[in-house]
Amino acid sequence: MSRLVIEGGHPLHGSIPIHGAKNAVLPILAATVLCSNGVSIIENCPELKDVAITIEILKELGAKVARSGSTLTIDARGRLGSRIPERLMRELRSSVIFMGAIVARKHKAKISMPGGCELGPRPIDLHIKALEGLGCSIKEQKGYLHIDAHKLHATQLTLDFPSVGATENIMLASCLSEGVTVVENVAQEPEIVDLANFLNAMGAKIRGAGSPRLEIEGVRRLFGTSYRIMPDRIAAVTYLCCGAVTGGSITLTEVIPAHIETALSVLSECGCQIETTENSIRLQAPARLRAPALIKTTPYPGFPTDAQSLFLALLCTTEGTGKIQEQIFKSRFKPVSELIKMGAVITVENDTAVITGVPALSGTKVFARDLRGGAALVIAGLGATGITEVENVCYIDRGYEKLEENLTRLGAVIQRKE
Ligand code: EPZ
Repeated sequence: MSRLVIEGGHPLHGSIPIHGAKNAVLPILAATVLCSNGVSIIENCPELKDVAITIEILKELGAKVARSGSTLTIDARGRLGSRIPERLMRELRSSVIFMGAIVARKHKAKISMPGGCELGPRPIDLHIKALEGLGCSIKEQKGYLHIDAHKLHATQLTLDFPSVGATENIMLASCLSEGVTVVENVAQEPEIVDLANFLNAMGAKIRGAGSPRLEIEGVRRLFGTSYRIMPDRIAAVTYLCCGAVTGGSITLTEVIPAHIETALSVLSECGCQIETTENSIRLQAPARLRAPALIKTTPYPGFPTDAQSLFLALLCTTEGTGKIQEQIFKSRFKPVSELIKMGAVITVENDTAVITGVPALSGTKVFARDLRGGAALVIAGLGATGITEVENVCYIDRGYEKLEENLTRLGAVIQRKE
């Protein structure tokens, strides 16, 4: 298992571009399964572990996939399978988003239950309820879901919770079924809008993406198209936190500030100067940040749960005491024990972490246990005194492209060691 060795205390300076969004490209790659009349060209596709596994799933289903730089070409015109092997489902929890796409194309699917425990249980009851609402019959047998969708039809649905994945599965499952499906209380994340834009570019008729109400008018078939993936808003927040924790001044390009308004306003509250244009963000940090008011994670457009661990690390060395309430996932405070090893003063009660700022953290060996928790440990190491070794970099590689190269470009002293 490789590790990242970081020498803290170097203020970051300079400019880097932001790579394509993991949480947009994964559902869009699943959506290419729906295209039986042409080839899908996906631009600005990041090189990430989760993308590599998604490509393996596409190939397992029978699609042809070629990569040239950051452009993927997917040909799903042949006869496709309807099963995803357990070994791939286990590796990629979000592979559950293939369910809707396979069901729409094949009118049946067999997938294993996605694994859980990284951020707490990862139930898919909302996905199942939604697909049953669209006429699927779903049986669980020996850890596999057998889905029969020969009676797929348009319907009216309201989600109990605006689940990102369930919203994506409904869009994928219903865009080829006759009639208009109306769904209330859907997720409004920018990645949902990106998926809807891609599907519409293929000839789908989806209205209302980015609002709480979606209308999906089924069409007979979808056609090949080319599409550029939106920038990764959580990667952008990660690099901004790296700049902020080191008292540096950095610029991000190829980014959409409007996607991370809540995170930007918290960074300003912490004392950072933020200047934005339509596709760039410049952050200038003070020597020491001050604790912001309570941070509460909520569905978009609220504060993103994926930025929660990043700010947990950032608040360890602010002046004053900060509080973060995680309202989306049941156990997303895994980095706390590792940050405490570095000298942080954090207590967790139920869904709230209380972080009492200390002047500085001290470098030591810490263990990543999930993607954003791992990124949080890198942020902590960059701001700490001495050397921090972040183990289990495989978690971080799931969602960050060229992390150590980008940070080195900004003046960090960071190395990957096997
Ligand atoms: C997506 O996960 C993202 N993953 C997550 O990013 C992100 O944290 C999450 O949305 C929330 O924004 C991808 O897009 C690949 P949810 P998803 O369904 O779809 C519960 C990262 O770090 N729930 O909105 O799984 C669920 O347990 C990852 O990039 C049910 O109870 O998120 C959670 O508590 C981590 N039943 C909450 O809803 C269901 O059927 C939000 O889940 C589905 C979800």
